[in-house]
Amino acid sequence: MSDFTRPTIMLKDSFDRTIDYLRVSLTDRCNLRCRYCMPEEGVEKFQHQDILSFEEINRVIKITRELGISKFRFTGGEPFLRKGALEFFEELTIRDIYITSNLAIEGLDVERINQLKLGGLNVSCDSLEPARYHRITRWGDLNVFIKNIKRVKIDNLKINVVVIKDFNEDEIVDFIRFGVAHRATIRFIEKMDFTPDDMEFSSLQVIKQRLIDDQIIGPESYRIHNSVSEYHPLIGEQGSVGFITPITNSFCAGCNKIRLKANGELKLCLFGKDSYNLRDILRTEPDDDRVKSWLTEIIRYKPAEPIIKKADETMAEIGG
Ligand code: 5AD
Ligand code: SF4
Repeated sequence: MSDFTRPTIMLKDSFDRTIDYLRVSLTDRCNLRCRYCMPEEGVEKFQHQDILSFEEINRVIKITRELGISKFRFTGGEPFLRKGALEFFEELTIRDIYITSNLAIEGLDVERINQLKLGGLNVSCDSLEPARYHRITRWGDLNVFIKNIKRVKIDNLKINVVVIKDFNEDEIVDFIRFGVAHRATIRFIEKMDFTPDDMEFSSLQVIKQRLIDDQIIGPESYRIHNSVSEYHPLIGEQGSVGFITPITNSFCAGCNKIRLKANGELKLCLFGKDSYNLRDILRTEPDDDRVKSWLTEIIRYKPAEPIIKKADETMAEIGG
């Protein structure tokens, strides 16, 4: 299929939501151990033979594009930890690929990432104070992140900040300034309970109202396509600030995404308990059309909203 051919089939779930966004986790491994994401010992529970090969991922991309998926985001764990990830991205024929990275790998080839012609890069950072950054990531070095982000030359750069009660609520304005200085859009995220931790989420409704009252952001908001993020314009500066509020304002009604774990399990809902084994289908079914039928069938099981609120998998495994 050429880039300009419109697929005739669209993936629709039983709530008439069009599914056009696939997140692909390349690895469950991570160089950090963010406390809200992973236990200290890490996850790494996938067997090597269960990890989808790049050829298999390319096949999934081809098949799902023909089913109307138009946006692909590659995640981890930390996607750049996967051997051959950069070569894989360089060889992708789809345009506008998106990547989420912690950008905290020493010696990361940022210049090569800049050449990828990404549709966007999302990076994670929860504190601009070295000791706090170290504490939340368990062993991350803020300097590595800063050194890397300074070299990023990508138009659509976003910094995800998970806001935690009594931890980084006092850094909101610093982050906004940091974003302006680095031509990046800051997105604040409410912490979800994925892994046992001793941290409490902080309501972004309160933080947002304070920023509006202080005339740092305007009261008017907008969403971009089906983005889970609500944006408010900065006052007196270019750009905007995003708020992702899974706790205080669920965005499930507009959900357009599904997730593929590194081991080939498909997750229809971030909080869903069940996953569907696409890996075995790929490995036993040579006919792409039959894989498509399977996917079209499976997608009907996508729940309207989380059936359970607490996930029993880690975010690193699911890929965010
Ligand atoms: N709650 C909210 N956000 C999380 N992320 C990872 N775990 C959680 C959680 N428990 C964020 C990361 C990253 C994005 C992919 O998901 O900070 O930016
Ligand atoms: Fe790694 Fe991202 Fe999880 Fe942090 S949140 S441990 S950077 S996967």
